[in-house]
Amino acid sequence: MADSGATSLAGLAEIADIGRDRKRGGYSRHLFDDADRELREWFVERATRIGLGVERDRNGNLWAWWGAPGPNALVTGSHLDSVPGGGAFDGPLGVVSALDAVERLVRGGVRPDRPVAVVVFAEEEGSRFGFACLGSKLVAGQLSPERARGLTDASGRTLAEVAAGAGLDLAHLGRDDEALGRIGLFVELHVEQGRGLIHRDAPVGLAASILGHGRWRLTFHGQGNHAGATLMSDRRDPMVAASALVAGIPGVAAAYPGSRATVGRVTATPGGVNVIASSVDVMLDARAECDDTTRALVAAIGELAEQCAADQGCTAELVEESWTGGVRFDTGVSTALSGALGGVPALASGAGHDAGVLAASVPTAMLFVRNPTGISHAPEEFAEAADCAAGVDALEAVLRSQLGGER
Ligand code: GLV
Ligand code: MN
Ligand code: MN
Repeated sequence: MADSGATSLAGLAEIADIGRDRKRGGYSRHLFDDADRELREWFVERATRIGLGVERDRNGNLWAWWGAPGPNALVTGSHLDSVPGGGAFDGPLGVVSALDAVERLVRGGVRPDRPVAVVVFAEEEGSRFGFACLGSKLVAGQLSPERARGLTDASGRTLAEVAAGAGLDLAHLGRDDEALGRIGLFVELHVEQGRGLIHRDAPVGLAASILGHGRWRLTFHGQGNHAGATLMSDRRDPMVAASALVAGIPGVAAAYPGSRATVGRVTATPGGVNVIASSVDVMLDARAECDDTTRALVAAIGELAEQCAADQGCTAELVEESWTGGVRFDTGVSTALSGALGGVPALASGAGHDAGVLAASVPTAMLFVRNPTGISHAPEEFAEAADCAAGVDALEAVLRSQLGGER
């Protein structure tokens, strides 16, 4: 493995002021907003400085090519967008580490015998349009262009409108066999979003699997009314029903060992302090090792929602907004990469990734970098400089192991 030189923390420092969220803390970087545009410009500039040629594909993903784009490419990278008030590492660590690792190969005089690319996938978090891994799912044909075009953001703007404003040709959104067909191997480096590497006392590991996961909208419908003039006994208040559901979810999830169920957002309509809501949307994120378990968990939560609604004279409606089945990474690929690293731990990931989407179509692997607290999707997300450097070393070693033509 090569010596640690520049670490990816230098790259993170370059983008540290882009998309800071003064209200929530951390970063809010969402598809085609000002921060995302600035990050994309930074990526193009940084990749160009290394000598890579950057192109944007028809789904808004960026590809920085070392050599002419072509088949059997060795591709690495991740995403630059964040959850609302997210950390600095989830996504960007994989992009800056990929640029560092490729830069070392370029500067080290390697003559690659296959194309190499650094990719930035669009809207991995689904924080603007509510659909996780939007860019990679479009490329892989796991999201139809019709459905994508109609997705809306919090202000009601459609993806079609926003993407057209960013210069994408809407007629060409969707499955991209050319982009997919070029990938010989995709390796995504990511900060770990759990505590597996702490327990294994290792700075770097490989992914073995990803939990199946999805997002559901539970809408409670009641009667909007006046907060002062309506007696407590006369109300059909969907917020009370929604609260009872949220409070009951941990108890439901406990019946499905290893499952996770989260409500991270509740939205009341119309949302006035002195107004009994007419409806309340409860956004549910549910995950489990086995997809049947996730489905059963969501069905049980749906039943509880109906009961909570009926108790308040309300109704409840359950709609699936996105779904990604569980992933087992190709053990042949992971074993080869682990060998190139002298043996590293294999981890199950509770978090979703673009690599999980691509794994259904092309050989794929993931490297994780230790997170000393396990905290992620929060401003406190962190990785030590030495571990980030170990991550770049590992990615460089993995890329070298897949390339011929060294000088
Ligand atoms: C993305 O990080 C997810 O797991 O939702
Ligand atoms: Mn994330
Ligand atoms: Mn991520």
